[in-house]
Amino acid sequence: MPDSMRTFKGKAPKLGLNTYIDASAVMTGEISLGDESSIWPLVAARGDVNHISIGHRSNIQDGSVLHVSRATHDNPSGHPLIIGDDVTVGHKAMLHGCHIGDRVLVGMGAIILDGAVIHNDIIIGAGSLVPPGKILESGFLYIGSPIKQARSLTDKERAFLSISADNYVRLKDDYLAEISQ
Ligand SMILES: CC(C)(COP(=O)(O)OP(=O)(O)OC[C@H]1O[C@@H](n2cnc3c(N)ncnc32)[C@H](O)[C@@H]1OP(=O)(O)O)[C@@H](O)C(=O)NCCC(=O)NCCS
Repeated sequence: MPDSMRTFKGKAPKLGLNTYIDASAVMTGEISLGDESSIWPLVAARGDVNHISIGHRSNIQDGSVLHVSRATHDNPSGHPLIIGDDVTVGHKAMLHGCHIGDRVLVGMGAIILDGAVIHNDIIIGAGSLVPPGKILESGFLYIGSPIKQARSLTDKERAFLSISADNYVRLKDDYLAEISQ
């Protein structure tokens, strides 16, 4: 197993088919990564006190931090981190114990806290802060700190959510080709 993939308490990251993990990323413990997904330079993902699940064709861009919260008496499941399919996570985002649906774009530097639920087909503006337990409804742009619903997504923006994920699937294929040379 490469240095960037670390076992913790007997649990190691599980990777789907055709995934790309940059050598400088660190993934520790109970993490599952779906097919065609990619993890870019300097990402830190720590599935130690709970699990992290990332779906298919999703990308976690450079410098992002992914973590979870442990079970407590009041919250016996704790807060795992669940990320759906075709999700784009921009550079230096902080995702902590939240649930992100499918076709979501998390803007660069956004912070999403424990128990927040981001439904499908949403754009979160760069630098936004999503407070603990906040629920974001499908089909809107949200911006700000704390985050607020800004407006409905246009058809073009909705289409872009899948295009962005596809672009990153192709980009990671180019990187995988470089490695295999
Ligand atoms: C929010 C965003 C989608 C632009 O949406 P938009 O509707 O086109 O917004 P506009 O550029 O027309 O700006 C509208 C207003 O929102 C403000 N605004 C734009 N982006 C903002 C952001 N991220 N947070 C807070 N305010 C923002 C603008 O300053 C402007 O304010 P004003 O009306 O007071 O002048 C874009 O700025 C953004 O954050 N994209 C995320 C990109 C990204 O991180 N991608 C991932 C990596 S590839």
